[in-house]
Amino acid sequence: AGIGKHFKYLILGGGVAAGYAAREFARLGVKLGELAIISKEAVAPYERPTLSKAYLFPQGAARLPGFHVCVGSGGERLLPEWYSEKGIELILRTEIAKAELTSRALTSVAGATFTYDNLIIATGSVVTRLTDIGVQGADCNNIFYLREIDDAYKLVSAIQARKNAKSVILGGGYIGLELGAALQINDLDVTMVYPEPWCMPRLFSPEIAAFYEGYYAIKGIKIIKGTTAVGFDSDANGNVTKVKLKDGRVLDADIVVVGVGARPHTTLLKGQVAEEKGGVKTDSFFKTSVPSVYAVGDVATFPLKLYKELRRVEHVDHSRKSAEQAVKAIKASEAGQTVEEYDYLPYFYSRAYDLSWQFYGDNVGDTVLFGDNNPLSAKPKFGSYWIKDGKVVGAFLESGSPEENKAIAKIARLQPPAPDLEQLKNEGLSFASKF
Ligand code: FDA
Ligand code: NAD
Repeated sequence: AGIGKHFKYLILGGGVAAGYAAREFARLGVKLGELAIISKEAVAPYERPTLSKAYLFPQGAARLPGFHVCVGSGGERLLPEWYSEKGIELILRTEIAKAELTSRALTSVAGATFTYDNLIIATGSVVTRLTDIGVQGADCNNIFYLREIDDAYKLVSAIQARKNAKSVILGGGYIGLELGAALQINDLDVTMVYPEPWCMPRLFSPEIAAFYEGYYAIKGIKIIKGTTAVGFDSDANGNVTKVKLKDGRVLDADIVVVGVGARPHTTLLKGQVAEEKGGVKTDSFFKTSVPSVYAVGDVATFPLKLYKELRRVEHVDHSRKSAEQAVKAIKASEAGQTVEEYDYLPYFYSRAYDLSWQFYGDNVGDTVLFGDNNPLSAKPKFGSYWIKDGKVVGAFLESGSPEENKAIAKIARLQPPAPDLEQLKNEGLSFASKF
């Protein structure tokens, strides 16, 4: 152990939120040596969404340093040199094993200690492993998860080692859909398996899902719904060969990619800080129940003002904005000032192939689909509204222009009264464009 390092501001976790927090500290003024980021990853903060998209392209793939934060939101790219110029210490390859909030100390796996005046928890999410959900035999080779750049690197190596491999993707959420496309583009044979009746049930209506399932089918991706993996076979080298499904089917597989969800990474803090809905409970300034301790990004359960409810959001836009809000709040409180409450409009997006969708607001209530969602169309373009208590509260748009995406964001924020559903369907995008 030995005597640890002390920082005025310490960020635990080196992902998206950490990077955007560092930029905000630099903007508002931070002295040399006041701020440090501790990350178990080996690289400076980067735009995590790239890992399931351009990082996996067969040609012209994105590689670091190309996608360090803050390029994902059109900002300056923060290279490792940027941190050293600002006197911000990047403590990489350092996993924190113990956090003692009462003594304001963190201890790494290797036994190094770090103390702080202010702590920002930005540990993100941990991927759910098959062993966590009781699936047997999931320890053979070539079963991949995707959370960090190391995972993405291993996956790319496997794809390159086995041209024309057979792949099975478990899970029909974000990872499943983005990886299904990525592996198909790499000429792998792709079968997707998920338990629900349609993909991305967390967000998609059956009509939205039908489009993507149809589109993927046209690309040659096989989809098996309503079942899950219950076991695997492997060869003498321990490499996976077969995926056994609950419905009795057995699929050949050289590569398996698992995307069965993630949970907020709060284990270090158990019993030390108030939690809510699986995350660390915060106020509108991302302050936790412990003085001088903040939580941002995927781990924070915060007041979503628009819906008068505590929510957790596992998406990149919120990780960036929550980080900036926390830093502004810290700096303001030092100056005896306050900042405005966080007033977040949920924004999620995804991209695969030439497709690109955006969603704003809340996906509750009735849905209305508009536009052309025929996957066989030359240029399909469609969307959906969610209507609750007579108001439009959410909007989804596939293949929207920047102006159109702005329009759907605007109505999700304004929540205008909805005309009857038939009329809303007929008006389609022009309904949003009126505001
Ligand atoms: P993030 O996960 O970015 O960072 C957490 C950091 O903490 C990591 O560096 C981790 O190593 C570190 N850490 C954790 N525990 C530690 C410990 N004990 N010691 C040291 N370090 C520790 N969202 C979206 O809106 N659109 C998109 O297209 C995508 N795409 C996407 C693709 C993939 C592959 C993933 C995994 C996720 C997405 N997301 C997304 C979600 C988005 O990336 C996510 O919401 C943000 O990265 C969350 O930012 P955080 O900083 O909270 O966690
Ligand atoms: P997810 O929650 O989006 O999807 C999980 C899927 O796993 C479910 O839809 C279901 O099909 C499947 N599943 C659930 N329980 C299962 C079980 N017992 N057996 C088999 N399948 C089961 O999670 P994900 O796709 O793994 O993504 C992980 C994290 O990464 C999330 O936080 C997500 O928000 C983030 N992410 C976001 C984006 C984006 O916003 N575009 C892209 C990639 C990843």
